[in-house]
Amino acid sequence: MTDERALLNKAKNNLVLNGFLDLDVDPVLDLEAEITKLKQEKNAIILAHYYQESEIQDVADYIGDSLGLAQKAASTDADMIVFAGVHFMAETAKMLNPHKKVILPDLKAGCSLADSCPPHLFKKFKEKYPHHIVVSYINCTAELKTLTDICCTSSNAEVIINSVPADKGIIFAPDKNLGAYLQKKTGRNMILWNGACMVHEIFSHEKITKLMIRHPEAKFIAHPECEEHILEKAHFIGSTTQLLKFTQKDSAQTFIVATEAGILHQMELASPEKTFLPAPPNNQCACNDCPHMKRNTMEKLYLSMKYELPEIILDERVIHEGRKCIDKMLDISAKAGFSIG
Ligand code: 13P
Ligand code: SF4
Repeated sequence: MTDERALLNKAKNNLVLNGFLDLDVDPVLDLEAEITKLKQEKNAIILAHYYQESEIQDVADYIGDSLGLAQKAASTDADMIVFAGVHFMAETAKMLNPHKKVILPDLKAGCSLADSCPPHLFKKFKEKYPHHIVVSYINCTAELKTLTDICCTSSNAEVIINSVPADKGIIFAPDKNLGAYLQKKTGRNMILWNGACMVHEIFSHEKITKLMIRHPEAKFIAHPECEEHILEKAHFIGSTTQLLKFTQKDSAQTFIVATEAGILHQMELASPEKTFLPAPPNNQCACNDCPHMKRNTMEKLYLSMKYELPEIILDERVIHEGRKCIDKMLDISAKAGFSIG
């Protein structure tokens, strides 16, 4: 066996442990060109979330928020879907495309929100409210989706909550911050699961206030995964796509942005004349990076496309049961006019 083949076999055997194919990539390789070549050869599509590093966004076929990515996954005719995002997003793409290969460059690209709601605990919790409708944020595991009636994203959450008959109780999981925001917006009193996103809970009220005083001309915009005391300060609240669109349309020239810093790349590309300041976090670090999203790199993306690994595998029961709440969400969203942006 050649050295190269032996290394590949070893990397494949260690895939579960490492989460990715741990192989050296020639540093002189033009990764963008190689990835583009692989896309054509394999009729693959790269779907990337705004929180990916800018090089990955630049090589992607579609960049979007969780709703746009699910809609694109549902409509693609590519043979292989390469998901530059986190695990629950790739699982959603797989549930929508059970017969296609769905690749995630690093299987350990998880999500603190999805982790905060273990399905076996949620099942017991749900049993206490047998007549309630379960609305789950899409940031949850495929298994949790099997326990969910309707899925939602931060783009369509208000519409989804309003689609539940007024006489029905609602359990909302797993994000307590988005849940609290929705309670305020819709006036619905919901049972909230106590989960949160580690990135959106890190913003400092005090430092944001100081930054707003230093930049009185700036608009402060925030993602609804942020805590209530942060959202109260915001001029605009929305999903990543909605935040991006707001910065394009609004007349302000400076924006303080409270969400993961990856979104700044598209904001700067769309409005190069405007200034975008990441909202400061509570820690000493100047960045608001999601450590899960940032596990994906150009090297891992290249290797995953070359060897078509790691692949998302779900059992048939999970696909069949879990898909129903996603289909419902896509159906309600289409009727409400949410199209791929
Ligand atoms: P959206 O993609 O709905 O804006 O949500 C952001 C997020 O945290 C995704 O993990
Ligand atoms: Fe999960 Fe938060 Fe990272 Fe999004 S930003 S993937 S919600 S941990």
